[in-house]
Amino acid sequence: MNDNLHQLRCFGCGALISGAEAQPDFRCVQCGDLFEVVYPGWGQRGGPDRPNPGALKWLWRERRCSSEELDHSGVWRFREMLPILNSFGNVVTLREGTTPLYQLRRAAKALGIDQLYAKHQGMNPTGSFKDTGMTAAISVAKERGFKWVACASTGNTSASMAAYAARAGLNSLVLIPDGKIAWGKLSQAMDYGALTCQLKVDFDGCLKLLTQIVKEAPIYLLNSVNPYRLEGQKTPAFEIAEAFEWSVPDHVIVPGGNLGNSSALGKGFRELVQLGLVAQMPKISVIQAAGANPLVRCFNEHQATSLEPVEAHTRATAIRIGNPASWRKAVRAIQDTGGWCLDVTEAEIAIAKAELGSEGLGCEPASAVTLAGLKKLRAEGKVGSGETVVLVLTGHTLKDANYTIDFHRGTLLEEDETACLEEEIAGLQRNAISVEATPAAVLAALKDRVG
Ligand code: F0G
Repeated sequence: MNDNLHQLRCFGCGALISGAEAQPDFRCVQCGDLFEVVYPGWGQRGGPDRPNPGALKWLWRERRCSSEELDHSGVWRFREMLPILNSFGNVVTLREGTTPLYQLRRAAKALGIDQLYAKHQGMNPTGSFKDTGMTAAISVAKERGFKWVACASTGNTSASMAAYAARAGLNSLVLIPDGKIAWGKLSQAMDYGALTCQLKVDFDGCLKLLTQIVKEAPIYLLNSVNPYRLEGQKTPAFEIAEAFEWSVPDHVIVPGGNLGNSSALGKGFRELVQLGLVAQMPKISVIQAAGANPLVRCFNEHQATSLEPVEAHTRATAIRIGNPASWRKAVRAIQDTGGWCLDVTEAEIAIAKAELGSEGLGCEPASAVTLAGLKKLRAEGKVGSGETVVLVLTGHTLKDANYTIDFHRGTLLEEDETACLEEEIAGLQRNAISVEATPAAVLAALKDRVG
């Protein structure tokens, strides 16, 4: 059976090509822009390939009780929304997706809003949101007969790619910036058997290099310039809409690095509206670290029409990216939905991360920008008290345990970064203490804490 109903459309000039015609770097030969996957059959109302919204909602719910491996994946449970393979028999899955949507009661109270949730994509098999995209793109790589796959990465993409490649029996090549990725992520790439190259350039340099390499060897590029990655990464939009009984929250807030994720979620919600599954899109806001904020500058200084690369610096290494590939797609997601793009400081990120931690929801520093950003949006009156907000937490807290330990020990931030925030930070720090091995000493420590 051929389940494949897609084409690729250039985001810049609109050129339409078949999946097999894509260049190794996934750039348009006419204008150099990126492609997105489109499903021509969806445009024709009443056409045989246009999915029926009522039937889909029913089918997807039924699949939750199914014993089929494909139905256990939170990506492929929605497979009618990503008919990108010749056969779904080629799917490579680690049962990704179906991540929890947690209510954040304490943070909601502190911010004076009723409904605040965290969609925790760090609860995926390799600990980040990348798995939802990787299952889709690795399945395409396998179906097309590639033996090698590759990515440049700040760590999570490489961890995810290495795992899925190993499951598929493919070889994987990872290019990472030397010394600038968290140990948890590097250890995963090693464990899953990738050929891991640490290069003395930043993420943007790694990606540039890889783009040249894939033109010279039959290696399948798995960065988010690969439009199939975004097809998998759009599925959390479906999970969110389903969790809200096919209405949508007022706001979805996402971290911004290479900007694939915000683009993918925008596409997911847009397609739900296109097919009549929901009535409107949520406002999608993208938050960057102040030291790695090319999209914020693009909005503030260039009316979102051009992007000047920046030299990126942030301890949230996952989003240490100065020249994001998918910026045009992310601009569309923000503008289509009436969302915002803003940045937050290193101290704001660290505080937000500790606050999420104190609610029992650890996450990576890069994920915590969402809560830090929400505080700003709320202070500026852009999020109302009666509105519903979903923060997308992108990575698991154990990915970067060093950051967390440094924060609690007080060695993470410099003095000039914490000015006026000392008390707030001290109130969140929970350093481990050395205690004599006697009941009396432990009880004394307990008394100290309780006060
Ligand atoms: N959060 C985490 C934990 C990430 O790993 C990334 C990106 C982002 C947010 C930003 O997402 O790039 O789609 O805007 N990490 C990539 C990597 C770049 O190589 O793992 P984006």
